[in-house]
Amino acid sequence: MTSAEAAAGAFRTLHGTEPRGVWSAPGRVNLIGEHTDYNDGFVLPFALPHRLAAAGSPRDDKVLTLATLGSDGRIQQADPVRIPDLCPGEPDGWAAYPAGVAWVLREHGIDGGADLVIAGDVPTGAGLSSSAAIECAVALALLGLAGHGDPDRARRAEIARWAQRAENEFVGVPTGVLDQTASLCCVEGHVLFLDVRSGESEQVPFDAEGAGLRVLVIDTRVKHAHGESGYGERRRGTERAAELLGVEALREVTGDGLSSALGTLPAELAPLVRHVVTENDRVVEVARLLREGRMADIGPVLDASHVSMRDDYRISCPELDLAVDSAREAGALGARMTGGGFGGSAIALVRDTDQQAVENAVNAAFEQAGYRKPRLFTAVPSAGAGQDRP
Ligand code: GLA
Repeated sequence: MTSAEAAAGAFRTLHGTEPRGVWSAPGRVNLIGEHTDYNDGFVLPFALPHRLAAAGSPRDDKVLTLATLGSDGRIQQADPVRIPDLCPGEPDGWAAYPAGVAWVLREHGIDGGADLVIAGDVPTGAGLSSSAAIECAVALALLGLAGHGDPDRARRAEIARWAQRAENEFVGVPTGVLDQTASLCCVEGHVLFLDVRSGESEQVPFDAEGAGLRVLVIDTRVKHAHGESGYGERRRGTERAAELLGVEALREVTGDGLSSALGTLPAELAPLVRHVVTENDRVVEVARLLREGRMADIGPVLDASHVSMRDDYRISCPELDLAVDSAREAGALGARMTGGGFGGSAIALVRDTDQQAVENAVNAAFEQAGYRKPRLFTAVPSAGAGQDRP
């Protein structure tokens, strides 16, 4: 059953009628370009086949009702809220994500009520952007129910900013725009090369299978409790460094200016800057290699990205390092953690002939270390958000 069918089925169970429409949005993997988005830099994500869907019908009383279908098949309902009364802090928990989107859309004149039921299969807490998938599916649903048609590319980038605002200001998590842009703007069979500063983007073809390769996702199933505060700390550190360097964002520091910049910064900020500046270069390098059809050659760049996140940005954890190291030892061409860090998932680029050996090695290493069994799957670049049925 697709996520859209699951959401529509749960909607029928709860409301006894067909939903007016179903919209869905994918989770993402970031191939490279971590913690560069809020520094105005470059990212290179692709959309996962895993999606979250919102089935909905409009209401004429400005009330928003929210429900989700859990993996145990049970429907969980949040307390209904009046859209004019929404303000950050209430509701909290999972309902804050869709409610936050309604709160932002209200400012753009979309304030009719709706019944929404959310269902899907993006793993939560795995660093694969289930929150952005909820936000983007709900944004499209509320826009669609208000009579807006399928958004074009520019409009999608704008909706991504709205969803980011919902997460920053309503939910209260200081994330960048990577995840929402990936969910809304990615295209099947491609990675999205995005320049966050200019908003310019390019769809770069990414056919791993055609090249005899696979992107293996290794979800460590670890969610470190300090993840959110660690993210905010890193972000504030880079903002402080930009201020000290007299630039608006670290994006403006390039390879040539790096060593003089590092010489002037306090010891705790220099490694953060080194990560962001070198990571931006790596994104550009990977995009170039992919355009040249040299997918296997991106392996060492992925490896360097992981080392930079582990040693300079310090956002890895023992489970992510073990995932990366064991995959590489078993023949992966390159591997790195993906997403915000402190837990979540790693990716490994493997030859299809080595895939089984790599999976076995990762599983064995986790077992030997006494870690929880990781969840492994191969990811192909899939479609971005859209309407599934009228
Ligand atoms: C999380 C955030 C993104 C981005 C990544 C790190 O996924 O939501 O905005 O900063 O971490 O690259």
